[in-house]
Amino acid sequence: MKILVIGSGGREHAVAKKFLQDPQVETVFCAKGNPGMRKDGIVTVAIEESDHEGLIAFAQEQEVDWTFVGPEVPLLNGIVDDFQAAGLEIFGPNRQAAMIEGSKEFAKELMRANHIPTADYQSFTDSAQAKAYIQLKGAPIVIKADGLAAGKGVVVAETVDEANAAVEAMLEQNAFGESGAKVVIEEFLAGEEFSLLAFVKDEAVYPMVIAQDHKRAFDGDLGPNTGGMGAYTPVPQIPQEMVDQAVKEVLLPAAKGMILNKTPFTGILYAGLIATNDGPKVIEFNARFGDPETQVVLSRLDSSLAQIIDDLLQDREPVIRWNQAASIGVVIASQGYPGKYQQGMPVPSPQGEGTQFFYAGVEETADQGDLTAAGGRVFLVEASAEDLATAQKNVYEAINKLPLSGLFYRNDIGDKALHYSNSSKAMK
Ligand code: AMP
Ligand code: GLY
Repeated sequence: MKILVIGSGGREHAVAKKFLQDPQVETVFCAKGNPGMRKDGIVTVAIEESDHEGLIAFAQEQEVDWTFVGPEVPLLNGIVDDFQAAGLEIFGPNRQAAMIEGSKEFAKELMRANHIPTADYQSFTDSAQAKAYIQLKGAPIVIKADGLAAGKGVVVAETVDEANAAVEAMLEQNAFGESGAKVVIEEFLAGEEFSLLAFVKDEAVYPMVIAQDHKRAFDGDLGPNTGGMGAYTPVPQIPQEMVDQAVKEVLLPAAKGMILNKTPFTGILYAGLIATNDGPKVIEFNARFGDPETQVVLSRLDSSLAQIIDDLLQDREPVIRWNQAASIGVVIASQGYPGKYQQGMPVPSPQGEGTQFFYAGVEETADQGDLTAAGGRVFLVEASAEDLATAQKNVYEAINKLPLSGLFYRNDIGDKALHYSNSSKAMK
């Protein structure tokens, strides 16, 4: 098999590397990828993900078997529609189905129509009306830009003033441009967060093992929201019944609802959930793999990812086996991220055995071929072990050996699970 992956981040590095583990896979191209991926034998292709014509021509020339789309932006730009119109196989939702991520309002309507549990909400384009609603509901309350905002368009406001300021930034000062020309204001949900992803082919839903992301920039869940600073799996504080309930009440009706809506979904469906006292509730849907969840979730996949995607594309029943190992991934980010950040810092290479590096915002220096930082999230260090405590110890030991300057990371990825495990042991 020859496969083309669209995207350039750590998620695409993990997906492409997993594809390559199948001996049937001869070449994995990644457009446009990043130079760090080449260390793992992935072939990067200098075509922008927005250049659909260029990508189609490349896929035809190279006779790739199929294409896999990593990020949401090309999905929402209709890359799947364009490849299919050219007679090429591609795995991902088309433009209309990707709206489950592209518009919070579209997702909310889908949930309303299919009785999928989510926070109460209302959407607004008028700032005065939005503020009146905030006054009525009180704080804490959550303000979200309607469109895409790279995970940064959400303000969890502790006070009415903070909520009003978020509304002003989005509706009056256009802080998120068009994406924030409409806001969704929703009820604050209290509980542990978890990410439940699934392979979806129309009505068929194949759930993956769950993970927990860390969206805030700093230790203790402080600081601004980011694209995600680290993740781990399994998530012992989320009972299996909660996961089963989420599959039954969220993923299956979402896939069915998309068919009823005449926007059937094929691809990776990601439900961001909060485990409330009333069961799982949706905070967002994504139309793709999560980053950094993918880097840990795929570490637990024993089956061939390439075979799963191939089976789904050919309407065969896939074989999907997960192992019982634990995996933790810690993002190393540029100082200043998610705001204005530094660039050009040296990016170290893995030292010793037992960890995987997944690269994202990196560039190659012209002379030496060394990597330097060129983005907010620069790379992720992943460690797998028989349990989370060991995986956490290994990942931080590996990171502590790295020379890092102008870069930062969270020190507490996995702590919530370990505190939970320790306190539940103490109760027994
Ligand atoms: P989102 O981009 O929708 O995933 O939101 C980013 C983060 O904001 C989430 O990971 C949650 O931590 C938080 N969040 C979003 N919606 C809610 C909500 N309704 N209640 C509590 N926290 C929320
Ligand atoms: N880690 C969150 C996301 O991929 O949206």
